[in-house]
Amino acid sequence: MKRIAVLTSGGDAPGMNAAIRAVVRVGIEAKMDVYGVNRGYAGLVGGNFVQLRARDVSGILEKGGSFLQSARCPEFKTEEGQMKALHMLREYGIDGLVVIGGNGSQTGSYALSKRGFPVVGIASTIDNDLYGSDITIGVDTALNVILEAIDRLKITASSHERAFVIEVMGRDCGYLALMAGIAGGAEAVIIPEVETDPELVADEIRSAYERGKNHALVVVAEGAKYNATKLASYFSDNHERLGFELRVTILGHVQRGGTPGAFDRILASRLGEAAVDALVDGETGVLVGLANDQIVRTPLEVVNSRKKALDPRVVKLAAVLAK
Ligand code: ADP
Ligand code: F6P
Repeated sequence: MKRIAVLTSGGDAPGMNAAIRAVVRVGIEAKMDVYGVNRGYAGLVGGNFVQLRARDVSGILEKGGSFLQSARCPEFKTEEGQMKALHMLREYGIDGLVVIGGNGSQTGSYALSKRGFPVVGIASTIDNDLYGSDITIGVDTALNVILEAIDRLKITASSHERAFVIEVMGRDCGYLALMAGIAGGAEAVIIPEVETDPELVADEIRSAYERGKNHALVVVAEGAKYNATKLASYFSDNHERLGFELRVTILGHVQRGGTPGAFDRILASRLGEAAVDALVDGETGVLVGLANDQIVRTPLEVVNSRKKALDPRVVKLAAVLAK
């Protein structure tokens, strides 16, 4: 393989830059020309390629986001869009492509792979919802951003004996909420994977106060049936009977904009190297991820056909620790 390209797609994740840097430098070490594709699949379809040399990726390691820009590209979901992308890859003489991104992006990489193009995916999304990697690039940094917010909210909640609901991202996955709940000491965690009755949440909060706590924090995943807004409305509609209200904080995109921590920089560097290794070995159509701290290659077909489940023991732990 003589010439490879790398792109970032979907929601940006802190650490993506470290992954790009590793792909570029490991690729050059393996005597390959490396091209960056700007704006994800949109850049692939539009032929937005630029050669990257070792010095072009200096000074990006410590920055969140993606210096290649990320994008959501509906056109790439169509056959026409994918044919245009393949045409551009051939125009630029690219022999292999690295796609850094989450669930949707790896559906796109699988589509290219099925059309015969050598692709390797790198597991990168703050949602941690990608089958094929225990943890994905960006999760750890996002969690630390969430924790900082939770710690601050706890201070003001305690001073006023208030109850807060904090909504975190994750799309349909409750991983961020669950882990933030454990690490932040939440009184209740609401995730899409477990059906939640708002009356039971009220019971949890009441019981926390009765046990002598001077605050209550509920962490809710954005994909839960009762997200922060709906939960707060329920509490406010039943205020007289329940006896308290919930103050709402929706953390939003601040969760994605953190400075990548050591864990994400190292994970991304390892996965960047692993992606180039897979291309060199000719083992393509795979996602590189981490399992039991080892680099693993999982066929994109498997990645796209399975759902990553939350560990039920961790779900139980969150409930026990809330007591
Ligand atoms: P993420 O990768 O963070 O989950 P998205 O779900 O938005 O983000 O997907 C990112 C991009 O991946 C989409 O804008 C689209 O270009 C591509 N993509 C998503 N689903 C598909 C699909 N079914 N077929 C081809 N490309 C897809
Ligand atoms: O996939 C990452 C993510 O941040 C999800 O947690 C969230 O639901 C979504 O992207 C938000 O997308 P956008 O940045 O397009 O608003």
